[in-house]
Amino acid sequence: MMSDLASLTTEILENIKKSSSLDEIETLRVDTLGKKGKITSLMKTLGTLSAEERKAKGQEFNVIKEKITHSLEGRRQDLELRAMEAKLTNEKVDITLPIQPEQNGSIHPISQTIEEVISFFATKGFTVAEGNDVETGYFNFTALNIPEHHPARQMHDTFYMQPDETGEERVLRTHTSPVQIHTMKEQQPPIRILIPGRTFRSDHDMTHTPMFHQIEGLVIDKSTHMGHLKGTLISFLRAYFGVNDLPVRFRPSYFPFTEPSAEVDIACVREGSEFKIGAGDNWLEILGCGMVHPKVIENCGLDPEEYQGFAFGMGVERIAMLKHGVSDLRSFFDSDLRWLRHYGFKALDIPSLLKGL
Ligand code: PHE
Repeated sequence: MMSDLASLTTEILENIKKSSSLDEIETLRVDTLGKKGKITSLMKTLGTLSAEERKAKGQEFNVIKEKITHSLEGRRQDLELRAMEAKLTNEKVDITLPIQPEQNGSIHPISQTIEEVISFFATKGFTVAEGNDVETGYFNFTALNIPEHHPARQMHDTFYMQPDETGEERVLRTHTSPVQIHTMKEQQPPIRILIPGRTFRSDHDMTHTPMFHQIEGLVIDKSTHMGHLKGTLISFLRAYFGVNDLPVRFRPSYFPFTEPSAEVDIACVREGSEFKIGAGDNWLEILGCGMVHPKVIENCGLDPEEYQGFAFGMGVERIAMLKHGVSDLRSFFDSDLRWLRHYGFKALDIPSLLKGL
């Protein structure tokens, strides 16, 4: 038995030396010192020996166990070290290789334009309000003084959705004006908000896409009048187009939700292929506005004898096209990377429009 144990030990130690992976070491450990391991099994025979023999043998087993454990541990450390060295040589960074060019994303001109407009109005005390793309007929039309069967309701080329559970008509909002109603119903004046967002009309050509963006403004308090409306929009347009003396014209118009209503034009030159904003004999329509209609104020539960104010709305794509010389509105949504790299803006590069003034 002695020699058996000695040769078994030698064999085990040999195998440990030869082992080439951490898994193999673990298998060897279980096979020898585990519950059913070879050494463990032999140790179990100690019980059959006399007390004296048992003591001597027991010590011998302990020495062997120690040796094996030590050898396993040594080999494990060895292999780990080797694996680490191999990793270090394989993963060596070759600093002589040329660097990978970095791919920078850019800000879409629509996002940039919205941020620019917000940054101007923020300095005038406006905060941003947002609504939902799907609206009820009440918020999109009725509360805005566009009654059912009114031609203006058809004029909007509305996308109709399934009615809601109560049978109420639902539409994809045709303008950002319903957010005026939500805000006036939820907040007490003074109100000064800017409403950027997606709007939808069933239309598709060079200057129309079924989804487009508007930015709406609303001011409601006890004293805001048409003079404030004109002053605010004139200074906005001059700042946005970067032309300090940009001629701005208010032309009487009609919207069901404002009275009086006006369309705002800016001066431009159009000669052959030349197009320039800021001077010239031509006028370019740029936005719609007016004093909020007393009926709209009343529909929101406010007293029109006490409260008044103005609203305006503009197409984001339109003002972006004019400022950046984009000729086809549809190109905003083509997702053509070359177009986006050309017309996109660097991140975090939102100029303060006040700088130009
Ligand atoms: N909602 C109008 C439109 O979509 C724009 C507008 C808003 C006009 C606010 C006046 C006041 O055409």
